[in-house]
Amino acid sequence: MNTETPVKETKAQKAERLKREKNPWECLHEIREFAEKGIESIPAEWNTYFRWWGVYTQGDGVGAVGGVGGEGKAAPYFMLRIRIPNGFLFSHQLRTIADLCETHARGIADITVRQNIQLHWVTIESLPTILETLWRAGLNTVGACGDVVRNVTGCPVAGLDAEEICDASHLAMQAARMLGGNPEYYNLPRKYKIAIGGCRSWCHYPEINDVGVTAVQRTVQGRSETGFSVRVAGGLSTEPHLAVPLDAFVRENQLMPVIRAVTDIFRDSDVLRQSREKARLKYLFLQHGWTGSDFLREVEERIGFRLEPGVEVTPPEDVYRDHVGIHRQKQEGCTYVGAAVVRGRITPEQMRAAADLSDRYGSGELRATIMQNLLVVNVPNRNAELLAAELSAAGLRVEASPFWRGAIACTGTEFCKLAIVETKSFARWLAVQLEESLPEFDQPLKIHVTGCPNSCGQHWIADVGLEGKKVKVDGRMADAYYFFLGGALGLNQGFARKVGYRCPGADVPEALERLLRQYLARRGDGENLRRFFARHSENELRTFLAGEAVAAVARDASPGPVPNGAAG
Ligand code: HEM
Ligand code: SF4
Repeated sequence: MNTETPVKETKAQKAERLKREKNPWECLHEIREFAEKGIESIPAEWNTYFRWWGVYTQGDGVGAVGGVGGEGKAAPYFMLRIRIPNGFLFSHQLRTIADLCETHARGIADITVRQNIQLHWVTIESLPTILETLWRAGLNTVGACGDVVRNVTGCPVAGLDAEEICDASHLAMQAARMLGGNPEYYNLPRKYKIAIGGCRSWCHYPEINDVGVTAVQRTVQGRSETGFSVRVAGGLSTEPHLAVPLDAFVRENQLMPVIRAVTDIFRDSDVLRQSREKARLKYLFLQHGWTGSDFLREVEERIGFRLEPGVEVTPPEDVYRDHVGIHRQKQEGCTYVGAAVVRGRITPEQMRAAADLSDRYGSGELRATIMQNLLVVNVPNRNAELLAAELSAAGLRVEASPFWRGAIACTGTEFCKLAIVETKSFARWLAVQLEESLPEFDQPLKIHVTGCPNSCGQHWIADVGLEGKKVKVDGRMADAYYFFLGGALGLNQGFARKVGYRCPGADVPEALERLLRQYLARRGDGENLRRFFARHSENELRTFLAGEAVAAVARDASPGPVPNGAAG
């Protein structure tokens, strides 16, 4: 008789077993069967496998506190993430998304911080039809979630920007084709993010990606040459890490082999497969003692040739580029027009309006940005004002307050099982409150709202980052937010500081008004928000927020464990 007690699998062991057992990209027929037989027919392991198809179970609206172990309950609906490499969209594609959104997703879509568009309320019955409709429009969801190469992001004004070093969008597309949906890369230890850009502003945030590529120039024998600098192992989440630059000048024809080698290193790092929480590439550096030079040596070993030493890279200084407004392109007589989609939420009517306007006034091309905005590009200069007026009339404001432009939000309790607070409505409300109370505010600012410590709303890199918490107000649990201030990327890169201040959601606008009024009153000549925050201590900043000296509160006052374990 076998008396051994079966050992319970860890979360990581279970995830690894499921991935070994099947490649979900080969199992579309199962999704079709589920659609025929209904939601009850879906076995539990598909909660994992669905992600490879960009499908994620939708929370029941209560978030993490509605369940156990930091994960809330799922509703019988799905969210579906449509992958948009480099954010490049054609009008017919946006119209297709608008139609699907209206017919199958209760009219709710979000532009995400990785240039994707996400639908909600999708039923299993409608999933095959939605996927087929997307494919016919040249769109896909493969690899939008799961332990795979996620959407490859890039500069949304690649090819248009007069200041860019080069247009690198074809390289982002090439990387997406090389790795996305490729069976050799269906089983990575965890999610893996690539950003490739050739501009000087780094609005694709190379510093917070697993692979971040920027263009560089060097002069050889009097001739200027363009190549690339590669950073590895950046990421946010609960333990943020800035990507480490490799000391190499990578020529264009070497870039794909280098990216493939980095991805192979990640895939083959069994040491990362022991714990889901420590499975990102950054943990080779944070936990396993790797350095940039170790990494470069390993890359060179795998590609089979030596790379030339890197050149000095000049990161952009305090660039704020949300692409909103009317901007001249490098093409003579052409303009791009950027509309602020406040915290990314967009309706089918707005998508259709933007698509139609891009046909009428431009070339039928649009771009989704990492700041959750939408651009219409290749517009003859003479049409720019008309287009801007019509976009604004559709609620896609081309002229907007810094608050409206700078509000970013993650999914939050509305649809996310890990969320502690609601984020999307809150972020919009906050922008409106601040517009009313501080109409004179004249500085760009990024306000990032994130529903839990996972940082999908990227609060670590915001001027003002708000992380969701729960507090008791009059004996009842209420949404509250903990403040992070002064995050930046580029030359002054650094994560936002925890200033020890937390307040209920209803009090956030007033706290921010107090803080920003202090900035307006005390700022030095030309001093921007980042520098102002940097020269004040956490105690001073907390006092500005509270309006009086208050003791610091701990960041994690949430009930229950920090959500973890799912792949976002
Ligand atoms: C352990 C769990 C999770 C972690 C650690 C995590 C972490 C992150 C981080 C750091 C980002 C920032 C994107 C970037 O790197 O630039 C992100 C993006 C995102 N996350 Fe999560 N996430 C998790 C789960 C979820 C869940 C459960 C949802 C919703 C149901 C979600 C929704 C999103 C969305 C919409 C984005 C935008 C990016 C995209 O389009 O790919 N995440 N996540
Ligand atoms: S940060 Fe991510 S996991 Fe947390 S609530 Fe937002 S979307 Fe959900």
